[in-house]
Amino acid sequence: MSARVYVLNGPNLNLLGKRQPEIYGHDTLEDVEAACRTLCERAGVELFAAQSNHEGGMVELIHAAREDGLGIVINAGAYTHTSVAILDALNAFEGPVMEVHISNVHQRESFRHHSYISARADGIIVGCGVQGYELAVQRLLRMTGKG
Ligand code: DQA
Repeated sequence: MSARVYVLNGPNLNLLGKRQPEIYGHDTLEDVEAACRTLCERAGVELFAAQSNHEGGMVELIHAAREDGLGIVINAGAYTHTSVAILDALNAFEGPVMEVHISNVHQRESFRHHSYISARADGIIVGCGVQGYELAVQRLLRMTGKG
């Protein structure tokens, strides 16, 4: 099985394009995943994209990446600010990890200023809108010698 880039999204990100568009924009998660897939295909790499509204679901998706993940791009949504379990799962993954937040979390409520994931992330992209996912995939491809 060839290695795949994992793009993982957490709770409420299935509502992208419909939920608080003034903060998160009008693009849907499908639009985001399609843009990431195009970048991966150009680099000759497969993309695996998934979203879960559940903490355990996120943990299991990260475990799956241990099998064939070239690297992980993750927006864990609100679990970013609460989940030691997701941090532990990422620590059990050997490849590069890029953390993405669509909004600039540092301009928002103070509870969004701390991320458990940042301790593990090789890079963090914050406040670049959904373009942040493409920037993160590009960085991951570069880090793994594919782009
Ligand atoms: C988010 C920021 C989080 O604080 C929030 O809970 C989200 C989305 C972002 O992409 O800006 O669900 O991760």
